[in-house]
Amino acid sequence: MATTAPVTRPANPRFSSGPCAKPPTHALTALADAPLGRSHRAAEGKAKLKQAIEETRQILGVPADYKIGIVPASDTGAYEMAMWSLLGERHAEMVAWESFGTGWVTDVAKQLKIEHTVHTADYGHIVDMSALNYDHDVCFTWNGTTSGVRMPNGDAIPADRAGLTLCDATSAAFAMDLPWDKLDVTTFSWQKVLGGEAAHGMLILSPRAVERLESYTPPWPLPKIFRLTKGGKLIDGIFEGATINTPSMLAVEDYLFSLAWAREVGGLQGLIARADANAQAVFDFCDQHDWIDNLAVEPATRSTTSVCLKFTDDRITDGAAFAKAIAKRLADENVALDIGAYRDAPPGLRIWCGGTVETADIQAMLPWLAHAFETAINA
Ligand SMILES: Cc1ncc(COP(=O)(O)O)c(C=O)c1O
Repeated sequence: MATTAPVTRPANPRFSSGPCAKPPTHALTALADAPLGRSHRAAEGKAKLKQAIEETRQILGVPADYKIGIVPASDTGAYEMAMWSLLGERHAEMVAWESFGTGWVTDVAKQLKIEHTVHTADYGHIVDMSALNYDHDVCFTWNGTTSGVRMPNGDAIPADRAGLTLCDATSAAFAMDLPWDKLDVTTFSWQKVLGGEAAHGMLILSPRAVERLESYTPPWPLPKIFRLTKGGKLIDGIFEGATINTPSMLAVEDYLFSLAWAREVGGLQGLIARADANAQAVFDFCDQHDWIDNLAVEPATRSTTSVCLKFTDDRITDGAAFAKAIAKRLADENVALDIGAYRDAPPGLRIWCGGTVETADIQAMLPWLAHAFETAINA
């Protein structure tokens, strides 16, 4: 059945899973207060960096005795810095259910070459987190950005574990509840849920992670960019805004804008509610159409940020080509940009539903998806 094109277009067609849409009120003129051309070590720059750390703590509810640092190279920099600095003291449990987790497994298996066990699940599924040995260090991703499968909660992680948990939370922080008592290392990047700029990563350390840093020296060399300790003591300055190397003060200003916006929409609970509403609109659409489904098999594990969808219609012969054509058609119509599935993931679509996206835009986009499907399947 051919359908006519919907009339309404989303006001903002940006549904990319990273860099993600800017907050709806964002404007470059709002960054005019950035101390450009000034040293980041001058009082003004340092105060901005410290403010970014403290507002992150307030909004995310990070405990006062956890350290928060701004580090180079986005989430990848933050997570690899943690792995290179902390791992090797004991066996590692490497957990992956999509591409980014798999990348961390490769780091440990092929680069660090430490004793480890690999736990994987296929796209759409999750690893049984209760089957891990928490006397070991455990590396995992809270929300699998490329499969749309997330941890439902942290209940499987014991409070009295002997090992450390290293959590890549880049597409979860500011959209999902993170149980800080279960997380020893948490990393994320500004370019994800808050729609900030890439470049810098956030590294959050529990007291036990700091204790490990101060009591253990890994056997491999560490470049300056990864070094968190000096003479066996944590470099406290990193966690007070004295970054290891030069940050972009424009990116810092942009992050401060996002944090201020986050407070305006109700802080963490407001952001979670926005992502939940966006994702629910997509879930409802899947329930109403028998040709599309969530890639996440278990409803409790469905991501509310990177919602991954697969086409299930029997008439589709080449799934990858079909999904690509739909994503292209929606981009050409300027109703949804960058929604093709990640290159390593099964063919389909990935619709970013984090809090910077407006539910009205998701609702305006979905009829276009139905129209594109009907047009392509009947072509
Ligand atoms: C789960 C996860 N980990 C790591 C990364 C890499 O982040 P970055 O490019 O900010 O280093 C991403 C980016 O999409 C991600 O989704």
